[in-house]
Amino acid sequence: MRSDVDRWEEKYRDTTAVPSLIPDPLLVHYADLLKGEGLALDLAAGTCHTSVQLARLGRQVVALDCSLTALQIGQRIAAREGVRIQGLVADLDNWPLPQSTFEVITCFRYLNRELFPAMGNALKPGGLLLYKTFNQHHLREVPRFNPNYLLRPGELARSFPDLELIVCRDGVNAREPYSFAIARSPQKT
Ligand SMILES: C[S@@+](CC[C@H](N)C(=O)[O-])C[C@H]1O[C@@H](n2cnc3c(N)ncnc32)[C@H](O)[C@@H]1O
Repeated sequence: MRSDVDRWEEKYRDTTAVPSLIPDPLLVHYADLLKGEGLALDLAAGTCHTSVQLARLGRQVVALDCSLTALQIGQRIAAREGVRIQGLVADLDNWPLPQSTFEVITCFRYLNRELFPAMGNALKPGGLLLYKTFNQHHLREVPRFNPNYLLRPGELARSFPDLELIVCRDGVNAREPYSFAIARSPQKT
């Protein structure tokens, strides 16, 4: 939505310092699964912490976000970490994902349910999807958060029927405001 895109750009323009790299714990825990060569796409990459971490694991990374400012901050984090990432400014409401292109796709803290089928199709056979975003427990911390952008219990496990689930966890209690899934695109037979 255009207003969301403008809001995010404005938010990132208020950023004064380049943040230190803070990779999501999921990327650290599953580093062995993620490392290797080949193309990775980080959707709604923001300031590119996930993109930079994937690049550190050897991946060629495309960091996609609607905010140019966020990607510019990400480039500075990448330079500081001594890796290269490719920034791509695009609006995911109007950007057709290419088919069968990526070895890894990540999406953290961004929920656009209409994109789910295209995310699966954009993976090469054997490619990995890592998806993690807020679930309904997040309302405890941020009561005004738009509930449409929160995963419902069990939703993630049903959202990628064409992929093989490796691990899927819903926040089982109020201390877990995130749900996540790691899934693999089937190898061609
Ligand atoms: C909560 S941030 C998450 C950023 C990053 N993935 C992370 O976890 O740190 C959500 C991101 O989605 C991006 N975004 C929102 N709507 C978008 C759209 N329609 N197309 C592309 N990016 C979008 C915003 O610019 C923002 O960087």
